[in-house]
Amino acid sequence: MHKSFAISNYVLHALLITLGMLKWVVGQEGFCSAPPAYTESRTLYWKVTNPTLAPSHLEDLPGFTRSVYKRDHAVITPESHVFSPLPDWTNTLGAYLITPAMGSHFVMYLAKMQVNSSSAIPPKDVERFLFVVQGAVTLVDVYGDSNRLQVDSYAYLPANFEHSLKCDVSATLVVFERRYANLENHVPEKIVGSTDMQQLLETPGEVFELRKLLPASTPYDFNIHIMDFQPGEYLNVKEVHYNQHGLLLLEGQGIYRLGDSWYPVQAGDAIWMAPFVPQWYAALGKTRTRYLLYKDVNRNPL
Ligand SMILES: *[C@@H]1O[C@H](CO)[C@@H](O)[C@H](O)[C@H]1NC(C)=O
Repeated sequence: MHKSFAISNYVLHALLITLGMLKWVVGQEGFCSAPPAYTESRTLYWKVTNPTLAPSHLEDLPGFTRSVYKRDHAVITPESHVFSPLPDWTNTLGAYLITPAMGSHFVMYLAKMQVNSSSAIPPKDVERFLFVVQGAVTLVDVYGDSNRLQVDSYAYLPANFEHSLKCDVSATLVVFERRYANLENHVPEKIVGSTDMQQLLETPGEVFELRKLLPASTPYDFNIHIMDFQPGEYLNVKEVHYNQHGLLLLEGQGIYRLGDSWYPVQAGDAIWMAPFVPQWYAALGKTRTRYLLYKDVNRNPL
């Protein structure tokens, strides 16, 4: 009994150190002179008054998830991702984060390509956008053109455009697909680019930085926005609009408002926003927030 108490004390010491509290402890006249708060932490039931609230701890708490799924929005956080082989792709695991079962007209999924993997083409009349978040892939198209896509690079493939993604080692992609909304006399083209090559756009009345990864022209029935917020910056408009969104936080952390709920979010989190859900974001922490956002555009909602 006494022995196990001593061991758990030792573990607590180690935990406090790894939690970055060493500086604090040393600041209180050395490690052994137990300041009041520290004494309290050694007592039976110390956890009641010293709960661990850091997200890294909560993720390990059995049964705990920050993910939510509601009628008009969803937050899908990494501890909820379930990967399984992507149909018709080789050596690739996929996690569908947004699908029409939620009410969206698009799918958003993560594709983890492994050694010697390759993609399948989307279903008939379905367009595809992919963005590399880890590793690198090679995009080969029906004309024999080949593009090396590294982190921060992306490609748009029009519906029924034959292509293949190949990966030698490993890569993680975020992929959006939807049935193309055809318009007479407008034909979208294959696009390949990278975020850093896109110019900053005007955002009247707002402070965030905006880049669009696809042309704003009529042939394209959606766009992908890259939005950057410095800590403390937030959306001025409390947006409510007909467009739907799929969002992946690439960097940073903050609070996302969706309807009447306010969610702490961080890099790796995905969000589904149905049409007309009130939405708002504020960036917090010490580093910039960057997120990637699907938005349907250029089509009459009727
Ligand atoms: C991947 O492909 C290369 C070239 O075909 C082959 O030499 C290698 O053994 C493959 N690796 C695996 C893990 O299948």
